[in-house]
Amino acid sequence: MGVAVSLPESGRATSQDGSSVSVSKPGEAGLKALADYLAQDMRACNQVIVARMQSPVALIPQLAAHLVAAGGKRLRPLLTLAAARLCGYDNQDGKLRHVEIAACVEFIHTATLLHDDVVDESQLRRGLASANAIFGNKASVLVGDFLFARAFQILTADASLDVMAILSAASATLAEGEVMQMTTQNDLSTSVDQYLQVIYGKTAALFAAACEAGAVIGEATPEQREALRVYGANLGMAFQLVDDALDYAADQAVLGKGVGDDFREGKVTLPVLAAYEAGSEEDRVFWRRVIEDSEQKPEDLDAALALIAQTDAIGATLRKAEEYAAKAREALALFPECDIHSLLIETASYSASRER
Ligand code: IPE
Ligand code: IPE
Ligand code: MG
Ligand code: MG
Repeated sequence: MGVAVSLPESGRATSQDGSSVSVSKPGEAGLKALADYLAQDMRACNQVIVARMQSPVALIPQLAAHLVAAGGKRLRPLLTLAAARLCGYDNQDGKLRHVEIAACVEFIHTATLLHDDVVDESQLRRGLASANAIFGNKASVLVGDFLFARAFQILTADASLDVMAILSAASATLAEGEVMQMTTQNDLSTSVDQYLQVIYGKTAALFAAACEAGAVIGEATPEQREALRVYGANLGMAFQLVDDALDYAADQAVLGKGVGDDFREGKVTLPVLAAYEAGSEEDRVFWRRVIEDSEQKPEDLDAALALIAQTDAIGATLRKAEEYAAKAREALALFPECDIHSLLIETASYSASRER
């Protein structure tokens, strides 16, 4: 499967199954182009996901299938596949290691979604009722544990100590991020730096690991491996900043998650910090009541949305996301131009401008 062909002037490339793919589309199409390009690898990855979520304990595949069949963007496994291919992995070993590790990355992500929706008491995920809403908190936590354990079985079967080290460290960092977020919840004295540390932990660390693990599989040089780690980390920061903006600004039907969830939970995200910082004393009294004292009336979300709109808090959050996306793009400068390179550049831009 040759992928390192240089980008034709038309901005189109040939995907793994021979179809033509645009490599220079902005926004949502940036991710779609990457998914189209890696369609064959991604199909194999989805097969591994379905095969490895099986268990004789019927509730496990039943609950996991609910979430897996609902879709999801598969962004993290796509990054693992793309990083491996960018570094020249050609699966001559006959093992499809990149596909196995991509599935492992999606299992870690899926496990965290199950746990996250319990912690956040979220009712909607991937456009459907969340697993906790249907099967209950206990089942969600336990099946999340199963998926984590499965991810580590895939890692041990792959037997690369480097890949194991990368993904186990990211899993620990992810849990730290979620715990750190819990401790900053309802606290408007949280600094922007603390907030950035939380989103690095809960989200960007896994993006960094997904890319770095792909690089290791592709037998990257130390510089290439570091570049892909930095790319993933910055893309992940942009991705979570946009997620936090979308929690106040998205169309719920497009997002497939509950808009206003962060507000109801009293999460101190950048849109709130920016609106609080720019607000009048009266606005700050409002924010302290709803976020710090968790005293919320049904009309308060609309009031919060109005304050956020008045203060350009979403704009500030999206500009910050774009700063990180630019750093992600810069990190790839040491790679020669090729289709995958262009698609990864587009994916960084997508992460800062996505709508779901
Ligand atoms: C959701 O991740 C959790 C965050 C880090 C915001 P995604 O938005 O990638 O979720 P799916 O997999 O596409 O549903
Ligand atoms: C995302 O946190 C991080 C993880 C899922 C670990 P959020 O709580 O912001 O994610 P969503 O919005 O529920 O997807
Ligand atoms: Mg959540
Ligand atoms: Mg969110």
